[in-house]
Amino acid sequence: MSDVMQNSRFSNLTLANRFALAPMTRTSAEPDGTPNELMADHYEAYAKGGFGLLITEGTYTDDGASQGYANQPGIISDTQVEGWKTIVNRVHAAGSKIIVQLMHAGAQFQASHHTDQPLAPSAVKPKGAPLGFYGDQTEWQTPAVMTEADIKTAIRGFVQSAINAKAAGFDGIELHGANGYLLNQFLSTHFNRREDNYGGSLDNRLRVVVETIEAVREAVGNNFALGIRLSQGTVTDPDYQLPEGENGFRRIVEAVRDAGADFIHTTDGDVRRAPFTDGEKSLAEVVRNAGGVDLIINGGIDETNHPDLAAEYPEALLAVGKKALANPDFVQRLKDGKEIDELDFAMLQPKATIRNEIEWRRNQAA
Ligand SMILES: Cc1cc2nc3c(=O)[nH]c(=O)nc-3n(C[C@H](O)[C@H](O)[C@H](O)COP(=O)(O)O)c2cc1C
Repeated sequence: MSDVMQNSRFSNLTLANRFALAPMTRTSAEPDGTPNELMADHYEAYAKGGFGLLITEGTYTDDGASQGYANQPGIISDTQVEGWKTIVNRVHAAGSKIIVQLMHAGAQFQASHHTDQPLAPSAVKPKGAPLGFYGDQTEWQTPAVMTEADIKTAIRGFVQSAINAKAAGFDGIELHGANGYLLNQFLSTHFNRREDNYGGSLDNRLRVVVETIEAVREAVGNNFALGIRLSQGTVTDPDYQLPEGENGFRRIVEAVRDAGADFIHTTDGDVRRAPFTDGEKSLAEVVRNAGGVDLIINGGIDETNHPDLAAEYPEALLAVGKKALANPDFVQRLKDGKEIDELDFAMLQPKATIRNEIEWRRNQAA
């Protein structure tokens, strides 16, 4: 058995092994964003299934424009925090650690309990179409341009949500800076056409990300895992490239590390893909080479390639998405030498909800 199954240090945590559950939106909270029993059963299954670390689905951070999907959980009200406490306690009782992914939708906005008006760096829509398994919307709305006051509100939302996460007992937080959500939009020259201090040069586009990490770090203190998920591509534009290439991504990595992030979680279609306009390194290699920050790698990790990836990235956690959805006991199955199922996307149709998954599993068993 590879050392991926050994105890691992990550930030200030000790984990049972190096497998992490990748964050996956399930739009299964109550309409007001409160996490429920269904979600507690769902997360507990991955803890019982052996994942050393769970990362929650993207969770919204303020009652302005942060929510992106109907039935997305939030972490802003007392009832939402109480709902998360139950989940955290059940995951801990099963022997895993859990961090919450904090997400502001920005322009990738389909529905919200709080507003009808998306806010984003610029009045630019995402490419492609909204995600059908998160809602019935067929067209993106044009977002309103965030004022400096709106930016401060969004940062305050991340800060208060991080404080709430600590109160709920989470072991840390991951800021969603990937896949085309707000923090990623600021980095992107597709979404960010601003001409003020928050747009233009890469250092300007980084400003919101850096200010958010610094403010959150100050609020939660040093002894709390704080990281950010980074990608180049987005959910509807997987081939987007930073004009600054590999060096630009390295600059982002160094800036978030220096702002106080103690881990970076890279995500791409394939961990080993070389996605930049120049150079041959993957996102994960750039982070590893920069050093000084813990690493989670993600993208196509499965039962076959994980030993090689664990050896190539001996300090990193391996985050598993689709294979985990298909096998909530993925880690236990590996330990037992059992077969790993492929994800049947019918499980996420017509909607990516936990109820839909339960229904699908019932039909499979019948
Ligand atoms: C149903 C579904 C929901 C997802 N939701 C999120 C999310 O909330 N936040 C996020 O950062 N990534 C999200 N992702 C992306 C996954 O975390 C992961 O990066 C992606 O599936 C690639 O990893 P894999 O090859 O192991 O599946 C989601 C993916 C799926 C399939």
